[in-house]
Amino acid sequence: MQKNSLLLEWEYYAEKDALIYAEQQALAMAKKHLQYSHSPYSNFKVGAGIQLANGLFIGGSNQENASYPLCLCAERVALAAAAAVHPNVLVQAMAVTVKHPTKIIDKPAMPCGACRQVLCEVEQKQQQAIRIITQGEQGGIYVFKSALAILPMAFDASYL
Ligand code: THU
Repeated sequence: MQKNSLLLEWEYYAEKDALIYAEQQALAMAKKHLQYSHSPYSNFKVGAGIQLANGLFIGGSNQENASYPLCLCAERVALAAAAAVHPNVLVQAMAVTVKHPTKIIDKPAMPCGACRQVLCEVEQKQQQAIRIITQGEQGGIYVFKSALAILPMAFDASYL
């Protein structure tokens, strides 16, 4: 028997002004899109902001439905919006933030497993890592170097 392990590394920034400017803009886009969240069932708002290689920033927010499983996460809304309007433009970074209806979330808002899987697929397709920037409503910011970093040993097309 052999024991193996993986190391997860990320950057920590105490405040947004310490981020590189493009990543500050992606995070600002995520925060802006909180207001467009359609979340009457959870009352939990999620905003996502994408930095594209053409210099543009695309936002998305969670979109819920009375038929609960049809809910779309903010990250996937933003990825689909970017792919629809700017096809084949590299996604360089995705920022994610949240707003809880009754409490302040002061730890970084991590993408759910499904969104990590989709982010990994975009990474594979474009052959370039997507930096993941996460912040709660307040508090420090985590930056991960890629989607694969937060979904290690991911399932991908190589298995098919
Ligand atoms: N949500 C997202 O938008 N992104 C995530 O990565 C996690 C969860 C949304 C889905 C739902 O509208 C609400 O947050 C509560 O789960």
